Parts: sequence; C-alpha cells; structure tokens
Amino acid sequence: MKTLHLVVFHLIILSTISQSPDQLYDELFEAVQIQRLFSDSKTFCDAVPRTLGSNQILDLYRKEYNNPTFNLTSFIFNNFIIPNTTSIVHEKWTIEQHCHRLWPLLTRTTNHENFSSFIDVPYQFVIPGGRFREFYYWDTYFTMLGLIRSKEVQLIDNMLENFAYLIRTLGHIPNGNRYYYEGRSQPPFFSLMTELASKTDKYKDELEKEYQFWMDKRSIKLDDGSILNRYYDDLNARPRPEAYIEDVEIAHKKNNTDVYVHLRAAAESGWDFSSRWMEDEKDLSTIITTNILPVDLNCLLYHLELALNKKLQAENRRRAIHKYMWSDDLQFFTDYNFIRKKPTNRLTLAALYPLWLGIATKNQAQNVARQVESLFLRDGGVVTTISNQSTQQWDNPNGWAPLQYITYRALLKTPGYESLGETIRRRWMALNEKVFQDTGKMMEKYDVVNINQSAGGGEYKTQDGFGWTNGVYLEMLYDQQPISNTVLYRKTIFQISSLIFFIFISR
Ligand SMILES: *[C@@H]1O[C@H](CO)[C@@H](O)[C@H](O)[C@H]1NC(C)=O
Ligand SMILES: *[C@@H]1O[C@H](CO)[C@@H](O)[C@H](O)[C@H]1NC(C)=O
Ligand SMILES: *[C@@H]1O[C@H](CO)[C@@H](O)[C@H](O)[C@H]1NC(C)=O
Ligand SMILES: *[C@@H]1O[C@H](CO)[C@@H](O)[C@H](O)[C@H]1NC(C)=O
Ligand SMILES: *[C@@H]1O[C@H](CO)[C@@H](O)[C@H](O)[C@H]1NC(C)=O
Ligand SMILES: *[C@@H]1O[C@H](CO)[C@@H](O)[C@H](O)[C@H]1NC(C)=O
Repeated sequence: MKTLHLVVFHLIILSTISQSPDQLYDELFEAVQIQRLFSDSKTFCDAVPRTLGSNQILDLYRKEYNNPTFNLTSFIFNNFIIPNTTSIVHEKWTIEQHCHRLWPLLTRTTNHENFSSFIDVPYQFVIPGGRFREFYYWDTYFTMLGLIRSKEVQLIDNMLENFAYLIRTLGHIPNGNRYYYEGRSQPPFFSLMTELASKTDKYKDELEKEYQFWMDKRSIKLDDGSILNRYYDDLNARPRPEAYIEDVEIAHKKNNTDVYVHLRAAAESGWDFSSRWMEDEKDLSTIITTNILPVDLNCLLYHLELALNKKLQAENRRRAIHKYMWSDDLQFFTDYNFIRKKPTNRLTLAALYPLWLGIATKNQAQNVARQVESLFLRDGGVVTTISNQSTQQWDNPNGWAPLQYITYRALLKTPGYESLGETIRRRWMALNEKVFQDTGKMMEKYDVVNINQSAGGGEYKTQDGFGWTNGVYLEMLYDQQPISNTVLYRKTIFQISSLIFFIFISR
C-alpha cells in the first residue's frame, strides 16, 4: 500500500514543473518585489498561476508592460491565486484544548499544483501557521514534542518519512519545503527526531546522507586539524526570493552583494536575524555568518555522529568544542570566528546546547547556569541574547519556544540548577497563558522582558499559530503532570465531529 502510494506520488511529481519563483518569472518577479506589491515579500513567492503556465504569463507580461494602461497589480491578481495567512482564534477553548485541537487545523497535504514553489512530499505534515504555509526543518522537532503528548503518532511517522524522502531526493533537508529554500538547510535535528520516535536504525541511510551533506559542503578544517562546521547556503550569490527587497536594500547599503551569502546562512541557522552574526550589533549589513563556527550547530552534529556510531569523529568534535568554544574569561560557551581566529564572545542561549546534549563538564554547566540566572532570566522566561542594541528578532527582549525548552532541559541536568529550570518552565508557560487569554492565540515568539507587550523586531510581523510554541507548551505542561484522559477523549470527539462535518460539506 505504501509502495503503491509512493509510485503514484512519483508519477505526479514527474508531471509537474516547479522551480523557484525568481527563476520562473524573472523580471516580472523583480518588478513585483521592487514595487512592494505585497507587504510581505514571501506572499508572491507562494502564489500559483490561475490558468496560464509560467512561461505564458512571462510572455504576456513582456508584451504588455510597456503599454500605457498597464497595471501590475491587476495583472498579478488576474493571473495568480494569492495565498492567505493562517490565523486561528477560538475564544471558547482553554489553552490546553487549543494546543491539542490545533494540530488538525495546521495539518496539510501536498496539492500537486503546477508552477508552485511548493516542494511536494508523499505524506501529511504540520505547518507552523501564519505566513508559514509549508513545514520547516527544525520547527518540526518541537512540533513533534507536542504531537507525542497529543498521541498523534501517525503524523510523526509521516513527517519522518517526508524528511527521509527529501534527503533521498535533494541530498539534504531544506529550510522548508519550498524551492526557494533549496540552497540551504536548517539546524540538523533529524537525528533528534528519529531518536524521539525510536527510529534511528530505520533511517541510518538517510542520516548518513545528511551527515555527508554537512561535512562536504559546510565543514572547516582549522590549523590544528580540528574539523568544525558552519552554516552556509549553496545559492550564495542571490537575494532570498522570500525577502527580496529587504536583501537588495542591505546589499545596496553595503555596496556589496557578498552580504547575500551571510543573510542566507543566517536563515539556515534558524536565528534570522541576530546580533550573534553581526560585527556591529546595530547594523545588519555587518553580518558575517559564514565566518562563524556556531556552538549549537556543532553540538547537533555531535549528536548526529553519535547516532551514526561515529565515535572518533564525535570525540574529536567534543574536544574542538571545548578548545574553541569554551571561554574561561566569560565562563560561557560562545561561537568561534575562524577568519579572525577568535571567539565571538557574544553571550547567547546557543551556549545551552553543550549542556543539553551532554558535551559540557559539570563545572562548565554550573557556570553557564549561573550566568543564565543572572543575565538571561526575565519575567517571561529567558531572553535569546543579552544584546542591548539590536532590533533583530533573535535577540533581547524576545524569547522563543525552542530555546526555552532547551534551556529548561539543560538546567534539569545541571546539579544545583534544577529549580532554575523549573522557574523558566513556569514563567514561560505563564506568559503563553497570559497572551492566550488576551488574544486567543499562541505566538511564534514572545517579549519575555516586557510581558505586557507583544514581541517585535525582525523583517516580518509576529506570526500566530504556532507549531513549535504549541509543541513546547504541551511538552512542558505534561512534563510535570499527567495528561488527563478527558482532554484526549474530548479531542477525539472533536476530530470525529470535524470529520462528519467535512463529509457533510463535501457532499
Ligand atoms: C491598479 O489596479 C488596482 C486594482 O486592480 C487599483 O487599486 C489601482 O488603483 C490601479 N493603479 C493605477 C495606477 O491605476
Ligand atoms: C483568501 O481569503 C479570502 C477572503 O476570506 C478568500 O476570498 C480567498 O479565496 C482566499 N484565498 C485563498 C487562496 O484561499
Ligand atoms: C499539472 O500539469 C499536468 C500536465 O500538464 C496536468 O496533467 C495536471 O492536471 C496539472 N495539475 C494541476 C493541479 O493543475
Ligand atoms: C561601490 O563599489 C564599487 C565597486 O567596488 C565602487 O566602484 C563604488 O565607488 C562604490 N560606491 C560607493 C558609493 O561606495
Ligand atoms: C550595553 O551592554 C554593554 C556590554 O554588554 C554595556 O557595556 C553597556 O553599558 C550597555 N548599554 C546600555 C545602554 O545598557
Ligand atoms: C502588566 O500588566 C499588569 C496588569 O495588567 C500590571 O499589574 C503590571 O504592572 C504590568 N507590568 C508592566 C511591566 O507594565
């Protein structure tokens, strides 16, 4: 049955043509983006043609655009279906019900649209929500934490299969399943996902192939022979289509298109953007991501090496992390700038990965924990960085679900700091609950410093939905209390009634 499904799926794939929209629409794409037809540059990237093929639309544009009555807005709306954002508000649900019941509303399947930027996959998947209409690589790990708590085992298996499929066909897991994300990946959490589902053995080949991708295309050999990794993007010379005008403006400000690769590499890191990657914390155009060997990435690859039983490589990497990324002065882990041959000395929550993944010594862990308490702990959880000048979204005063989770787990493992972990868990959940009460929504990120304000910063508005926030909330909730059967019972009733409703309306 599964084989037949895959064969049919491949036949459909072969019959559709899909590419990145900047390539499909060329100067039409540029015109739409430069004239800011849509407030979010990503909107047009996700549009699909109504009737004509992409070549026909481009030919038509080339024929008509010089016409004095030509109107680009009308042209676009006549020829494309423009996607909406997903917003989900249910004032009658409790936050717990909301998180469980949202999964079906965030679940999608491939719809085989022609000339779409969407990368088709064989099985169902969960999207984050808001402007994010596709699934994302590292987000999915945190979504899965919640899916386990909601007993959505089939959905987890489906998403693992999708990721394995992407590794087999593209050689890596892209940032998200869109062709315009194809040049890069995201923090490599696949080995953590397979571990979560106890399926590491099943996916050995795909894990090995993913490992080769990171080692072939993103590793740096240092003078002493140590090998560490960085983030990169293989489509390095172009602005990101989904942030086209923003990237072009930065390159213009800098008078240098070399900045594109640093912006793209930061997008691969998941921390787009952060003072962590910038020489001047106030100025995004000073971004130098590909000069940096990030501590979190190298901890994730250590986990992958252990999953693949590459004990020697893992041990060498552990040593290199200690040598290059531990600062005796700061008593903290930081990233390493291999061009300047110096640590970046920026204090960020990426320092918690060595604790979480068992790389830090007990002494290092306790020192990091002490600094988390004095520098990062706020009313709503922990701040991403302690930068006081950045306006980027992966910075002070914002807090993000994945980093709250990793910090919480890391501290539970650190003797003497378990209760600090518990404090972070309680404060973060309380903030989620407060915002939910005010708005009926779960957010992509939160302002953990001014807990009466919504989070800001970055190149797009704060999104709601939201996959990883729901996942981490459920995980934290049931980490300390058993799930009540009534919640799951009601969830099943809800799903059955949705199904009946769906059958009813589709008749
Ligand atoms: C172009 O068309 C849109 C709607 O299709 C309209 O709102 C806009 O005013 C038009 N622009 C011009 C310059 O006529
Ligand atoms: C977007 O929402 C509008 C208004 O609700 C609706 O008319 C339109 O069909 C939606 N578009 C898509 C692509 O779903
Ligand atoms: C995509 O194009 C193929 C080949 O022209 C056609 O058979 C198929 O129906 C199209 N799919 C959609 C969803 O329009
Ligand atoms: C931009 O760079 C070019 C080539 O490097 C140089 O010739 C030009 O003077 C620069 N313009 C400004 C405004 O710095
Ligand atoms: C910002 O942080 C730096 C170093 O972390 C510190 O020296 C400076 O005083 C801070 N500035 C403000 C306005 O708080
Ligand atoms: C936040 O709001 C609550 C009540 O709505 C208020 O008691 C508290 O002082 C506010 N905190 C800040 C920092 O404004």
